[in-house]
Amino acid sequence: MMGLHLKPKDGFAQDHLIGIDHLRDADIEAILNLGDHYANRIGDDHGFGSDILRGRRILNLFFENSTRTRASFEIAAKRLGADVVNLDIGTSSVKKGETLRDTVATMEAIVRPDAVVIRHSEYGAPAFIAGHLDCAVINAGDSWREHPTQALLDALTIRRAKGGIAGRTVAICGDIAHSRVARSNMILLTRLGAHVRVIAPDALLPQEFPADGVRAFATMEDGLAGCDIVMMLRLQKERMQAGLITGESDYFKHYGLTRERLALAAPGALVMHPGPLNRGVEIADDVADDPERSLILTQVRNGVAARMAVLELLLARPRKNS
Ligand code: NCD
Repeated sequence: MMGLHLKPKDGFAQDHLIGIDHLRDADIEAILNLGDHYANRIGDDHGFGSDILRGRRILNLFFENSTRTRASFEIAAKRLGADVVNLDIGTSSVKKGETLRDTVATMEAIVRPDAVVIRHSEYGAPAFIAGHLDCAVINAGDSWREHPTQALLDALTIRRAKGGIAGRTVAICGDIAHSRVARSNMILLTRLGAHVRVIAPDALLPQEFPADGVRAFATMEDGLAGCDIVMMLRLQKERMQAGLITGESDYFKHYGLTRERLALAAPGALVMHPGPLNRGVEIADDVADDPERSLILTQVRNGVAARMAVLELLLARPRKNS
């Protein structure tokens, strides 16, 4: 019953982070503002820390492969003083046929987490476990539907690099149909006032867009004109039906981001990519590695800051029903 008299911190009023649609404008603003604060401090001093989450336990439950997202959540949690437990799904009973609900219930009994960070190939898995657990649940990517912390760190990155999001033109290029990053970004960036375009061959466009106002282009030549941000995506071959794309070199020829193509965008346009990169498939080496134009490593750094913000806002206050 502690702290019911306290106001939700910085206007943030969520128990979980399941998808962008669930967030109110004030929640998004609170995450971006606190993320910005942490991003400034990460730049100054890699060793900084806080103990605002001391004694809290974060359980990372990754049912799909991940490099940066999982490491980013772990570092974010540790920088705030929390303890982190990672479940190695490869050696867990999931491989022996255990249900998601049983795995989560077992881990809850052992770890008694304050937050579970979950990545799962099935749509709705984070919302499902949120209904069965008495702790915060954070979606670290479910199926091709949502990856809210990636969109939040991307928005933070655009805001810091371009001085704002409203009125900026962002092109998301490549495998839109199978990308949860594209989906969460279309929802969030549109909501924050950006002009969002997608550029992809027909086979890689979704049947419908999750946000109003998204404009689709079939060629890089048409879609890049006037763009402030060019966000490239990997071909999600693991989610594709065979034969959707004829060949990677052919794909690069038409949709790969080269210096020449980047020159079609607005002067000073910046390049983003959530990773992992497939060099020579969707992006040329010299574009990916251009220190002036590529924000790719900045995104990774801001990912820690954005996740610190999410963890702090979710956990550094009493839960609604506690
Ligand atoms: C993305 C993902 O897993 O959804 N990666 C990430 O989180 N940085 C994109 C991808 O897998 O291509």
